[in-house]
Amino acid sequence: ESKVASIKTLADSAALTSVPSEYTYTKNPNDMGDANDPEHSIPIIDFALLTSAYPDQRAQMIQKLGRACQEWGFFQVINHGVPESLMEAMVDACQRFFELPEEEKKEFQTRNLLDPIKCGTSFNVAIDKVRLWRDYLKVSLEFSKRTRAVATEILSGISESLGLESDYIAKAMNWDRGLQILAANYYPACPQPDLAIGIPPHTDHGLVTLLIQNDMCGLEVKHNDKWVLVNSAPGSFIVNVGDQMQILTNDKYKSIWHRATVNNTATRISIAVPHGPALDTPTLPIPELLEREGETAKYIGMTYEKFMELQASPAAYMVPCLDHLR
Ligand code: SIN
Ligand code: FE2
Repeated sequence: ESKVASIKTLADSAALTSVPSEYTYTKNPNDMGDANDPEHSIPIIDFALLTSAYPDQRAQMIQKLGRACQEWGFFQVINHGVPESLMEAMVDACQRFFELPEEEKKEFQTRNLLDPIKCGTSFNVAIDKVRLWRDYLKVSLEFSKRTRAVATEILSGISESLGLESDYIAKAMNWDRGLQILAANYYPACPQPDLAIGIPPHTDHGLVTLLIQNDMCGLEVKHNDKWVLVNSAPGSFIVNVGDQMQILTNDKYKSIWHRATVNNTATRISIAVPHGPALDTPTLPIPELLEREGETAKYIGMTYEKFMELQASPAAYMVPCLDHLR
């Protein structure tokens, strides 16, 4: 495999004043949402109310959660109890890793999907048509455990919002053996941000993804056919529904397209924590929901492991993977 230097090394070189041709990615200026439109910000879910001992408060927040999953596929979670200091420490640790000399990062450069730690640049430099303005690190720590506890509560809330027992999805998907990844992204300042992309449009393959970022924005989500920039309160999680949830709900809750843009002022760091089913567990539309809605299943079953292999394969590269299961 060809060795490509990290985007950090490229961006750090004093001579760099424009985006090299192999990184050039142009965006359509006509599908940008209006940043001043107050409707154009993702819903806020108050975790303290979602887990409240008062049934009324909980029921109200579950309803809001269901609407957020249906109308946006993205929401912001506040008051989740994970200390902000832990979140900041996690971002700092990732930053320090990315700033190590190339030599020291080298031993973690692998392509195997399920290796415990891997880092690299772009997406898959062997098949990328356009290189990405991004380095990454994938690893698992204490932060992951706390994040998982929040994800578990969100999953319960989503189950209930569908009129199911709160542990329905967790049981069906073998959540106790579910795959959790931690993917940190490093997007250095870019001299021509309109001519590069951090991560191109994609949907996430799992059930739910939780994401934090440093004080730079850049995540955009597709809402009503427009790209909307996500602003998140410091210390909050940005959460989105993934492909497995769209399959389970037979399209009621959609796995929304999103992308990471870059900027020309400062490095942006994001840490995405996708949570999926157990690898050997096939995902299928929930029979109780199909029956209630009088629908037929829109998807064939596939194990999560097969689904991820499919998504990473050149054949399905950056195209909607769900289409292969219809
Ligand atoms: C991702 O979609 O995996 C990361 C997006 C971001 O950096 O905000
Ligand atoms: Fe994503």
